[in-house]
Amino acid sequence: MFGDLCLILDLGFPDVQLLAHRVRRQGVYAKVVTAPINTAQLLRFKPRAVILAGPASYDAADLREMGIPLLAAEHVDEFTDRREGGATRPSGVLSEFLFEIAGFDGDWSIGAFIEESVAQIRSQVGDARVVLGLSGGVDSLVTAALMHRAVGDRLACVLIDNGFLRAGERESVEAVFGGTFAAQLRVVDARQRFLDALSGAAPESKRRLIHREFLAIFEQEAARIPEARFLARGIISSDLPALSRSSPRSTVLEPIEPLRDLVKEEVRELGSLLGLPRDLLRRQPFPGAGLAVRCVGQVTEHRLAMLRAADQILGEEIDHAGMPPQVFQSFAVLLPVPSPTTASGHDATGETVCLRVVESGDGTVADWLLLPADLLKTISTRLMTEIPGVSRVVYDITTKPPGRIEWE
Ligand code: XMP
Repeated sequence: MFGDLCLILDLGFPDVQLLAHRVRRQGVYAKVVTAPINTAQLLRFKPRAVILAGPASYDAADLREMGIPLLAAEHVDEFTDRREGGATRPSGVLSEFLFEIAGFDGDWSIGAFIEESVAQIRSQVGDARVVLGLSGGVDSLVTAALMHRAVGDRLACVLIDNGFLRAGERESVEAVFGGTFAAQLRVVDARQRFLDALSGAAPESKRRLIHREFLAIFEQEAARIPEARFLARGIISSDLPALSRSSPRSTVLEPIEPLRDLVKEEVRELGSLLGLPRDLLRRQPFPGAGLAVRCVGQVTEHRLAMLRAADQILGEEIDHAGMPPQVFQSFAVLLPVPSPTTASGHDATGETVCLRVVESGDGTVADWLLLPADLLKTISTRLMTEIPGVSRVVYDITTKPPGRIEWE
């Protein structure tokens, strides 16, 4: 696929998706594959060139013998763009490899991606139908727009209301479908089913249980649609590490994940070219497992309602103050830490809300961001006066790495 491909073999390279993005920014389609992979499997991608990225070793003798251009790369700094007289020039090492050694044309773009993806999806799907899972986030909406361009009304979108959506999320998805593009949308109310599935679950199994439930519902929905053979999902490159740990695969539906190689910025550009509204594309990333992974500890209807209200207050106040442009994600987390309160009686405890505000390029690395003190004061006062049971508010100052953006 994508005829002129630079394949990046991940041999433990830090920020390997960032490297792939750098290559694509130079107009060359790059895709990451993860070791272990043998040469025959690697050649199936028909790469014009291969970047061996990372400290682990790989026997590339066969590739070398076949004359496939190879680059040895251990750290992203080797590819850092240079600043010359105020202008940014692409990394010399990378452009020399791509254009002088491997002979790429450098004419790949997101526009070309649309054409190639549409052709590929059409040939893969044939006359069958595709079920697509919407989460309310940008990635699944952009996937829906791309799939709709490729297969039209043979796309059936399903929004599963698992009870872990943010305030107003279901309504905003319905509005986009009613307005921007006329794809079929079915909303399945599965709130109780997900609560039951998570009842008593250990934190580390939440994502797996949620994915299992999602899959079962998609399969049920697909069974109602004649010729539904594919399940499209808005997986992007930063989801891949979490996905490999948690996600069961359908044995009935074949996966289609056309955005797997892309980073968030590219997904937004793609969505914009496909005609999705700008404010929707600027929405923050949101995990597929939704508020369940921000409701640390037991997930109950009551704790979810508290968390949703806290998240809404944080969002409203940040919007009201004017969102600092660097904010990549800002959200509330409910911690499983009972906190003493003066409210009612000596032994009474309330819940702890944690605020997480981060800046990041694409979520692979992130730094915490300090909101102004008076804004924090307003948020904290509102949380403790408007949400009964909140008796402590804390601020998360964790960087990624070594931490993660999400709490579970
Ligand atoms: P972490 O917690 O791994 O998150 O630092 C990195 C980025 O990925 C988002 N994230 C997800 N996105 N499905 C998604 O679509 C998921 O299951 C998922 N889990 C984490 C997270 O919000 C952050 O932007």
